[in-house]
Amino acid sequence: ERPVTVLDWAEPALALGRELAAANPALRDTRWHRSRIGAALTIESTDLVTVSYVLNELTAPDRAALVDAAAHAAQAVVIVEPGTPDGYARVIEARDRLISAGFHVAAPCPHGAACPIAPGTDWCHFSARVSRSSLHRQVKGGSLAYEDEKFSYVAATRLPVDPAPARVVRKPQIRKGQVLLDLCEKDPALRRTTVTKRHGDLYRAARDTDWGDPWPPAGG
Ligand SMILES: C[S@@+](CC[C@H](N)C(=O)[O-])C[C@H]1O[C@@H](n2cnc3c(N)ncnc32)[C@H](O)[C@@H]1O
Repeated sequence: ERPVTVLDWAEPALALGRELAAANPALRDTRWHRSRIGAALTIESTDLVTVSYVLNELTAPDRAALVDAAAHAAQAVVIVEPGTPDGYARVIEARDRLISAGFHVAAPCPHGAACPIAPGTDWCHFSARVSRSSLHRQVKGGSLAYEDEKFSYVAATRLPVDPAPARVVRKPQIRKGQVLLDLCEKDPALRRTTVTKRHGDLYRAARDTDWGDPWPPAGG
């Protein structure tokens, strides 16, 4: 098992990471490196590079340099950005760069062709429920013990992959006797499909399917 290396240019960010990671034995060997992400960045050869909520803090040339360095170093690259129109645009830009570097899109897209969303009309994003500490609640002025964090992402691999046939790109709408699924498909195209009770097992699967899941479910 290879250790994790975390790069950040801010010592307080590294210190906070170290503190959070201390509670997790799997992260005991993590290396914390102070390093500036920019044209001079080199990344050691590795299995996976994740770039999470960082592209939005960089200039356009530094974003490009980071994605290129990640593609050069890794077998797989995962980019995550806030699930906003701008975050989505940065993910698409990074996706294009990864494809140019010879990578294959593993998720969320079921294909490596151009995104079927007409620019400016919508943005591909998903949602993850994250727990809020009482400090979070105080700082953000919220009262719930969780929040639904919207994010956009792309996962790409150097080796060819077999992506899901389609992906659920909105929260499924469950109606009486039917489930409406908004799918991104291989064509590539966006399509709404209605799965009804008549579909039997597929209907039961649709009722258990979440926003962001592959469709149909693996093995189904
Ligand atoms: C929103 S935080 C995300 C942190 C972490 N990746 C995560 O997902 O929780 C963005 C981080 O990027 C770091 N950062 C911004 N510009 C940077 C640069 N040019 N070089 C290195 N780190 C940078 C900031 O110090 C900050 O810790």
